[in-house]
Amino acid sequence: MKRSLFILAAVLALALFAVGCSPVATDAAAATASTTAAASDTTGSADSGMLELTLEELKQYDGKNGNPAYVAVDGVIYDVTNVKEWKGGEHNGYSAGNDLTDIIKNKSPHGVSKLKGVPVVGKLVDG
Ligand code: HEM
Repeated sequence: MKRSLFILAAVLALALFAVGCSPVATDAAAATASTTAAASDTTGSADSGMLELTLEELKQYDGKNGNPAYVAVDGVIYDVTNVKEWKGGEHNGYSAGNDLTDIIKNKSPHGVSKLKGVPVVGKLVDG
């Protein structure tokens, strides 16, 4: 009798543990969290987490006063904050916060190859 009571208690404990770890419960929590995030999102970032900035909005990312340094090339926005050549948001006379497509392609000696490995944070949109 004692033995069967023990088995019953063990099975119950296992069942409770399984319900507690249920992926359904986790999914529901994740879904609620992402809905909340999407609803309160007003910064122009797409669902994928990528930013969507107009040229006007890009200007504030100049690498100055603690701002990140972003540059746009071919509609893609790159984060050059941690690129040593872009210290302080400046590079060979050019400033972050701008669309530098023409400069990197036609004036720089390196072309777009230097953007390889630089983090992409979003895209430039009309505004
Ligand atoms: C939109 C982005 C960029 C623009 C417009 C740009 C522009 C330029 C220009 C005009 C020069 C020539 C300076 C001179 O003639 O003395 C230059 C040189 C240089 N840039 Fe950039 N650059 C960009 C991104 C980058 C990035 C992301 C890196 C590094 C990861 C980089 C690294 C260098 C280096 C090392 C030089 C020296 C010359 C060379 O090695 O080719 N640049 N850049």
